[in-house]
Amino acid sequence: MPVTKAVIPAAGLGTRFLPATKAVPKEMLPVVDKPAIEYVVEEASRSGLRDVLLVTSRSKKAVEDHFDREAELEAALERKGDTRRLERIRSSTSLAEVHSIRQGAPRGLGHAVLCAAAHVGNEPFAVLLGDDLIDERDPLLPEMLAVQARFGGSVIALMEVPEEMVSMYGIATVDPEPVSTDGRYRTVRIRDLVEKPPLAEAPSNLAIIGRYALSPAIFDVLRRTPPGRGGEIQVTDALRELAMAADDAGEPVHGVIFTGRRYDTGDRVDYLKAVIRLACERQDIGQELYAWLEEYVAAGGPKASA
Ligand code: UTP
Repeated sequence: MPVTKAVIPAAGLGTRFLPATKAVPKEMLPVVDKPAIEYVVEEASRSGLRDVLLVTSRSKKAVEDHFDREAELEAALERKGDTRRLERIRSSTSLAEVHSIRQGAPRGLGHAVLCAAAHVGNEPFAVLLGDDLIDERDPLLPEMLAVQARFGGSVIALMEVPEEMVSMYGIATVDPEPVSTDGRYRTVRIRDLVEKPPLAEAPSNLAIIGRYALSPAIFDVLRRTPPGRGGEIQVTDALRELAMAADDAGEPVHGVIFTGRRYDTGDRVDYLKAVIRLACERQDIGQELYAWLEEYVAAGGPKASA
């Protein structure tokens, strides 16, 4: 049975982006001219996941509204004959069947995923973090879903990160030999996971990034997972338990090692890189922006503005 449901946790506090995120959810910050979360819902839709559940909170109403029809705005654009913009605002509402649920309190990503249990039911599903963008030219999720269909269990996305970033991510211990090299990325068997370890204790530099193809078995584990690092209920801890149980004939956990373009829009520098890169590559505004950037850099960048 193909996976059809995507869960997008978007209930985090977004403290790294304050004060911008005091009243505006970080998922609504524009990447060029679309909110970050629209790219994520587009990715789910392109991957065949047409049932999307947003996990939000009281302060994230704008996220829910973005995927709803806006009759007054549509009528105004219609009157003006602005069909191009009309198309663009309508497209966000036709990408998928978008549902939402409130997390109540930000008790961690694991808790946010658990909030989706009743909606998901007893079937495999995908999780896409609402502030993590995967460039559409480097498709990742369809490959993860194919790995899940082949091996069963759960599949997480991994990426090699530089040493100084290891303590910011969940880090994996994997078998040295890949189980498959069929796709664009290598697939490895995961043996252990640890959330945000100090560098000296990190088993590798393979970091968990924001895409997961999960087995519904995760829900029972999450229900009994105590708060971990940062006092939050961590998905990494629940996946660790599944990976360990797999040694006793439980469901396996695999990792797909992504080597494409990814932007963490919850981080200020990564966010700006995403905006600049995607804007420079756009047909309509790219040339003008790139010419200005070249000029700015050639003149000495910040030194010239001093
Ligand atoms: P992050 O740690 O990146 O989000 O969580 P955050 O807590 O909003 O960020 P900072 O560190 O304060 O800036 C990863 C993902 O999990 C979601 C976030 O919205 C983000 O998509 N999340 C996190 C929840 O939905 N609920 C939570 O309780 C925690």
